[in-house]
Amino acid sequence: MAVITCENVTKIYGSGENRIAALDDVNLSVEPGEFVTVMGASGSGKSTLLHILGSVDRPTAGTVMVGGEDVAALNPTRAAVFRRRTVGIVYQFFNLIPTLTVRENILLPLLLDGRKADEAYYGELVSLLGLEDRQSAFPSELSGGQQQRAAIARAMICRPAILLADEPTGNLDRKNSQEIVELLKRSNRTFGQTIFMVTHDGSIGAGAQRLVTMEDGRIIGDTGRSREA
Ligand SMILES: Nc1ncnc2c1ncn2[C@@H]1O[C@H](COP(=O)(O)OP(=O)(O)O)[C@@H](O)[C@H]1O
Ligand SMILES: [Mg+2]
Repeated sequence: MAVITCENVTKIYGSGENRIAALDDVNLSVEPGEFVTVMGASGSGKSTLLHILGSVDRPTAGTVMVGGEDVAALNPTRAAVFRRRTVGIVYQFFNLIPTLTVRENILLPLLLDGRKADEAYYGELVSLLGLEDRQSAFPSELSGGQQQRAAIARAMICRPAILLADEPTGNLDRKNSQEIVELLKRSNRTFGQTIFMVTHDGSIGAGAQRLVTMEDGRIIGDTGRSREA
């Protein structure tokens, strides 16, 4: 069964002269464990789609099912739980909390969810992401690549079924960008979570397992799962 389904999804911002169809009849189905890469020009609707999947924003029309939940129908309490447990979100600017260490940043979502740290899984994540030596460091003491790896660990600590990443390499140099994408691929294989990643970087798109292309709020291309990463 699909983990993400979008049916005739439209998102309108503004009205009258300022009306913008950020999403225009989007249809998409993603199976569990897929790694979907989304490309498209700036303004094509990539972030809007990602935010709707993450229940950060709501569609104007259409149906969006994520992890078995109808995201548009969630009340605020359920939406907050959904955002903590079902999805993890990674942004271009890492948004780590400067006064917390790497370990504290990574574990924060568990604390907010009233759960204790699963030390074995925490250790696995930190090791996968190469942060063993940096656990007591503060974000300002980390390189950009390390900060993004910490942000990814934080997004994954609650074992979300789906990891949403909005231009996660947009603020990194080529070497760190490739490394982050490799780590996402490895964690996709290791932990089996579904990954939905937006990128501007053509070389990342070229190596994508499944590439979805957007233009003016529409999906104009989708390679499906035919390609091998
Ligand atoms: N909160 C908002 N209010 C008004 N317009 C918005 C808002 N968010 C996005 N848009 C518009 O929707 C379109 C799609 O934006 P976005 O999803 O951010 O594109 P992308 O991430 O592909 O660059 C753009 O025209 C953008 O200006
Ligand atoms: Mg964007």
